[in-house]
Amino acid sequence: MKIIRSLGAMTAWSERLRRERVTVGFVPTMGALHDGHRALIRAARLRCDALVVSIFVNPTQFGPAEDLAKYPRSIGKDRELCRQEGVDVCFEPSASAMYPAGFQTVVTVPAIATRWEGEARPHHFAGVATVVTKLFGLVRPHLALFGQKDYQQAALVRQLAKDLSLGVEIVVRPIVREQDGLAMSSRNVYLSSDERILAPTLYKSLQAGAEAIRNGTTDASAVQSVMAAVVRQEPALTVDYLSVCDPLTLEPLSIVTFKAVLLGAVRLGVIRLIDNLMVTMPVGRR
Ligand code: PAF
Repeated sequence: MKIIRSLGAMTAWSERLRRERVTVGFVPTMGALHDGHRALIRAARLRCDALVVSIFVNPTQFGPAEDLAKYPRSIGKDRELCRQEGVDVCFEPSASAMYPAGFQTVVTVPAIATRWEGEARPHHFAGVATVVTKLFGLVRPHLALFGQKDYQQAALVRQLAKDLSLGVEIVVRPIVREQDGLAMSSRNVYLSSDERILAPTLYKSLQAGAEAIRNGTTDASAVQSVMAAVVRQEPALTVDYLSVCDPLTLEPLSIVTFKAVLLGAVRLGVIRLIDNLMVTMPVGRR
């Protein structure tokens, strides 16, 4: 496995392979890789001839009061996981190479970025959109894989790849969960043992919402109440949002007619957990 740090070397590597008609796959990450990333890498491996994983803790997607400095970093273990999974290149650019003095451009996808996570983290999605666009420009992949865990991020990347005609196929892969249902995330290491026990409550609330829809509840505010009631059973948790949304636009629905995505964010101590669940109304109930 090659480790590439230079931006120019990364593009040169990809361009050479593209000229040889090799399909280049790409999994962008911020490191602290877990089994969710492993599943993305495995899915990518099946779809491409050459595979790049980037490891870059992108400073521009963290707010001033967020966890950039203490974001988990485990580069040795990350490289080992990549080696095990047959990754061809680990791309590890530095922040100064990605954002040299004079860097000005910001990519925004306003309609998707301002809701939900965007309300709690106002600069987050501009940072994500800008770095993903830049990484695509450097890696020049044919396809790029993202996890459904960050549903809004995946929707935003899809939109920007389409709007800017980036020529990259965006593939979104299902959430990988712990046995008790907690969605895997690099930030789960922040949870204390007590918090870890409570953390799957968010998923339980989404499951209760999905169950209500499958049983015929179409009124989104009734579904929200069902989800909120589950979270309320654990006083240590506070709801940021529990919403019933259109799966493509992420706009809140008032009535569920066919498909919805349930988006949730809760606070547990200083930690914020996010999760989501797609639900389809059974044919007989539509
Ligand atoms: O999901 C992530 O790890 C990051 O937001 C991404 C897509 C690598 C951009 O920094």
